Amino acid sequence: MSHPSILAKITGIGHFLPNDVLTNADLEKLVETNDEWIRTRTGISERRILKDPDKATSFMASEAAREALQSAGRQASDVDAIIVATVTPDFMFPATACLVQKEIGADKAFGYDISAACSGFLFALSTGASLIEAGRQKCVLVIGADKMSAIVDYTDRNTCILFGDGAGAVVLEPSSDGTGLIDFVQRSEGDTDHLLIQEGGGSCHPASLSTVEQRKHYIRQEGRAVFKKATEGMADVSAEIMRRNNLSAEDVAWLVPHQANLRIIDATANRMGLSSEKVMINISHYGNTTAATIPLCLYDWKDKLKKGDNLVLAAFGGGLTWGAAYLKWGGAK
Ligand code: UT7
Repeated sequence: MSHPSILAKITGIGHFLPNDVLTNADLEKLVETNDEWIRTRTGISERRILKDPDKATSFMASEAAREALQSAGRQASDVDAIIVATVTPDFMFPATACLVQKEIGADKAFGYDISAACSGFLFALSTGASLIEAGRQKCVLVIGADKMSAIVDYTDRNTCILFGDGAGAVVLEPSSDGTGLIDFVQRSEGDTDHLLIQEGGGSCHPASLSTVEQRKHYIRQEGRAVFKKATEGMADVSAEIMRRNNLSAEDVAWLVPHQANLRIIDATANRMGLSSEKVMINISHYGNTTAATIPLCLYDWKDKLKKGDNLVLAAFGGGLTWGAAYLKWGGAK
């Protein structure tokens, strides 16, 4: 593999999690389910929910962005570009990135959103890294943020047990010491679009009384089919990125997996030959926060990361989309 001469590295990390907790016991009161089923089938015990009706994804994204900038020792005025990965934008347009730009006062930055569902942060990271590698920008905020509670049907036990709200952000800057984002593998498979979808509200089914009556404004997932695809897909790309960068299991310090289901994470770690101590897992407390899962893991583990650690990030989501990234940790605070 040939790699770019300028790498992008993560110089700061921030996060936001709402205070309100939705436990499995709470869900037992809403749908026909039970704590034991949810824990054993998914690994989830509770999730955070942004209850304040006046606050949306841009609020969480801005909070995470502020913390990431502080951790990088940067001001909002230093930011050249803001990329927000989300499937729960405040509005269809303008982009949530523009709302974040206003909220944090990043006056000289441009911004746009990326829609790649649970792979969104990884795909946005790839785009952000490319801007830096090309020498076009020097400071890029990459944010994964989702208020999943806004599109979850709390009468559908197939989906409502899975998702939570949250945001994570990183600052990307040029790296001159060989650390940073080294490689990406990204995949899409549009003919499986129907497996995980929010049908209503777009130009195909514009919001109407009928779309609401048909509950098209909520997520719909064929769980078993997505599970099968995710188990294969996340493991495939993780093995591929190790192979093409000559990484053995011993070389990998951490797997940073999308947190959709503990069984999918275990399958990926097994294929990579990694023991469980090398896998970042926080699904138990936050559930699936869609674009926020990977930066929330990086945030929770940041004090354990050492300069030079090899990290493999892996994601899978609607689209279907999936991918992996290889990065050499550069020592963000
Ligand atoms: O992040 C984006 C990508 N998304 C994913 O990666 C999610 C992938 N899918 C999954 O994680 C799993 O498929 C689920 C957690 C959604 C479901 O687990 P599963 O082991 O695939 O269960 P299933 O859908 O095959 O259902 C097994 C049984 C069914 O009952 P029968 O037909 O066997 O009698 C379901 O009706 O479990 C039942 N069931 C439930 N029971 C209690 C489904 N949901 C629930 C529930 N509580 N919440």
